[in-house]
Amino acid sequence: MREDILKILFTEDQLKKRVTELGAALTERFAGKEPLFIGVLKGSFVFMADLVRAVDLKSSLDFMAVSSYGRGTSSSGAVNIMKDLSEDIAGRDIIIVEDILDSGVTLNYLCGYLQNRKPASITLVTLFDKPSRRKAPVKADYVGFEVPDEFIVGYGLDFAEKYRNLPYIGVLKPDIYSN
Ligand code: IMP
Ligand code: MG
Repeated sequence: MREDILKILFTEDQLKKRVTELGAALTERFAGKEPLFIGVLKGSFVFMADLVRAVDLKSSLDFMAVSSYGRGTSSSGAVNIMKDLSEDIAGRDIIIVEDILDSGVTLNYLCGYLQNRKPASITLVTLFDKPSRRKAPVKADYVGFEVPDEFIVGYGLDFAEKYRNLPYIGVLKPDIYSN
């Protein structure tokens, strides 16, 4: 897979260090509470696994799946819930864990959808943020890294379902997209 990567943006060590910092910040913020982490599948699965282990709280976790880009590299604008929560979130402190905040369409929809179920609080954590691409009014409470307007893969993020298992974050060579 390395031969498909043009450059590495974040190494395993850089990711680990930042995720540890985010975990410590959440541990402090939710001290004495039992928040529910909600991972947005599939992209967040690696981040989620590392983040919850960096948090020292009696937390629980759940996952949701929403429609994604398919094979393209930009959002279609429509959001579908493919898998909903298995727990009731009324009165709970929920922490939404996302891989990357791009147009904001997905999270804007998801926050509204979850808000209707009356959680005590909603906190948004995203590992990556591309603020220059925002179309919907979403602001994350915790951001791992701001990234430029480049399509990135690895550490859970895919292009056409591939490269999720790369342990680092990279940018693909342009000819991969045109195949
Ligand atoms: P949004 O609704 O445009 O904010 O889309 C967010 C979702 O798009 C993320 O959860 C990712 O699945 C996907 N996405 C956005 N940018 C990238 C990228 O650079 N690489 C891989 N997936 C991306
Ligand atoms: Mg995706």
